[in-house]
Amino acid sequence: MTKWHSLSLIFLASLMTASCGGGGGDTGTTSGGSTVTMVELGRKLFFDTDLSSGSNQSCASCHDPANGFADPRVTVNAPVSEGSVGGAFGDRNAPTAAYASFAPSFGTVAAGDQTPETNSKYQGGQFLDGRALDLVEQAKGPFLNPVEMNLANAAEAVAIVQNAAYSSDFIAIFGANAFTDTDTAYHNIATAIAAFEASDEVNPFSSKFDAFLQGSYTFTASEQRGFVLFQDATKAKCANCHTLGSTPEESLFTNFRYYNIGTPSNPQNPANIANSSFVDEGLGASAAIDAADQAAERGKFKVPTLRNVELTAPYMHNGVYATLEEVVLHYDIQVANLFITPEVDDPNIAAEMNAGTFVGLNLTDQERADLVNFMLTLTDGYL
Ligand code: HEC
Ligand code: HEC
Repeated sequence: MTKWHSLSLIFLASLMTASCGGGGGDTGTTSGGSTVTMVELGRKLFFDTDLSSGSNQSCASCHDPANGFADPRVTVNAPVSEGSVGGAFGDRNAPTAAYASFAPSFGTVAAGDQTPETNSKYQGGQFLDGRALDLVEQAKGPFLNPVEMNLANAAEAVAIVQNAAYSSDFIAIFGANAFTDTDTAYHNIATAIAAFEASDEVNPFSSKFDAFLQGSYTFTASEQRGFVLFQDATKAKCANCHTLGSTPEESLFTNFRYYNIGTPSNPQNPANIANSSFVDEGLGASAAIDAADQAAERGKFKVPTLRNVELTAPYMHNGVYATLEEVVLHYDIQVANLFITPEVDDPNIAAEMNAGTFVGLNLTDQERADLVNFMLTLTDGYL
């Protein structure tokens, strides 16, 4: 695989022509004569805890590479990340930041590109409700979010970078005037982080599944049955939304579209503890969609990648499920039999799950275990 995957090359090329006042190539030379890359600079920014009000939190605190780029601190009973300020919590479970670089920019799905099973008006973007157009816009959010890194404003973030040990790297990449204009510098901080997020380190494609595609891993009997069932469009239907193909890059395990799959509320979510009637409306509450679509998009969330899903528990936007077994049960019987009350009730859940005839997947215990065993082959680090 190349240094950056091809999609991000296109993505970064378009960013660079579109935006950076100070230029910004993918490599630069410091005054000391050493070569730095945009990816290395982005990596330093991603791990810099000084970029938070308490100097105690970096992007990696909630997106830890050792934990599938998700938050190792959370559980089903404490499902959302604590911010730089102790006791400050958001209302969503941190998703992995890995493979997010493959999402298209937020927009609408072309009408001819929909099938009844995967009908979704919107696709792409970053955050579970797609409210950030792309990775660069996403990376501008956490620094200033009071329940995350809690800096006062962009100028404070820029000043921290200007005083950091790696400020010469920033100048090497973005030019001698890199810190002159706050908006440009802040944009470039986000641009470098996005480059790191598009690098091989964050998107290694090194799981057993990838080895299987390349012919260097043989599935166990259970993994193989799970692999077949996962793709069975008349039975488990998982791959309708968690798409896969014949190459690693085609197998991101998401179509980056939006659905309400009937996820129930998590009473342990601090937002629900504070207000028991709290409801996360997902895409329906996003300012990025047409106001006229808000009712139809209530309760929809972006399909998450399942790469590294072994490491990213608890599951769903609110961390309501502790295990993959519970997630599979959700699809198998809970939605169909309404053992659960969806957080956002939607008469179309069934339609979206199964083109209008959802009656539960009727899986056997063995089939559910096979699906879980297949998902466990998606953990990076095997190759
Ligand atoms: C306090 C924990 C926390 C910190 C710190 C944090 N994030 Fe996140 N991140 C989250 C949560 C929670 C979400 C989902 C929020 C939502 O959907 O509204 C998220 C979403 C994302 C996404 C979107 C993934 C997707 O599939 O849509 C990316 C990318 C990301 N974060 C990268 C970053 C970067 C880069 C930084 C540092 C600038 C950062 N995060 C800092 C918790 C955190
Ligand atoms: C109609 C599209 C669709 C189908 C079909 C579907 N999923 Fe999902 N899946 C989603 C969406 C959307 C979410 C996120 C829901 C949320 O956050 O509330 C999700 C979440 C998940 C998660 C949680 C991931 C995480 O990081 O939190 C797992 C695991 C999962 N699905 C596995 C499966 C399996 C296994 C199947 C087949 C039995 C399946 N999905 C079928 C759309 C779908």
